[in-house]
Amino acid sequence: MKNICVLVSGGGTNLQALIDAQRSGEIKNGRITCVISSKPNAYALERARDNGIKTRVIARAEYNDIAAYTKAVTDALIEENADLVVYAGFMTILDEQIVKAFPNKMMNVHPALIPSFCGKGFYGLHVHEEVLKSGVKLTGATVHFVTAECDGGPIIMQRAVEVKNGDTPEILQKRVMEQAEWKILPASVSLFCQDRIRVENNIAYITGE
Ligand code: GAR
Repeated sequence: MKNICVLVSGGGTNLQALIDAQRSGEIKNGRITCVISSKPNAYALERARDNGIKTRVIARAEYNDIAAYTKAVTDALIEENADLVVYAGFMTILDEQIVKAFPNKMMNVHPALIPSFCGKGFYGLHVHEEVLKSGVKLTGATVHFVTAECDGGPIIMQRAVEVKNGDTPEILQKRVMEQAEWKILPASVSLFCQDRIRVENNIAYITGE
């Protein structure tokens, strides 16, 4: 059974999707053992507590620089014996220390089809604002391994979602979450826990299909 640690900063709907998937048995060979938040008041913490999952707060605001903050998060994950680290709406870009400690053992859900609308500055609602400004007709979500390059790691799973006339960033965000993020994140976590993701030359392959 793999220990899954989830990093959060906000509402935690992706965490909720993982909790629901765990409850329904969709996540095979893994369980959420700890939720770590960069913000003390993140609603995601309540979701974890309501489900009897251990929580820790490592507040970004209490650290002077990203190196010290990354070290604190890395140390906590080592202490928790994390086998898999999931960034689920975690809004801080950590430095390469953590990638060295957990190579191809961290995954992130991004609310667009990478390599579009990603990288520094593309997070949360901003992503959907940029999608709407650009006029693309398809967007979606991506789950990828975390490497030193922001949103640049091997892609595990993607799902496309339609952009519709009259969409606001909020409406589009909700559709992307419902139709893509909440589905591909638990599915990717389950594949990882079953050792069914192999990475070669920066490309992820799903095995045993
Ligand atoms: C989600 O849409 C997630 O993909 C995005 O923030 C939202 C968090 O929602 N993450 C990023 O933009 C990271 N680059 P949640 O807290 O309800 O899961």
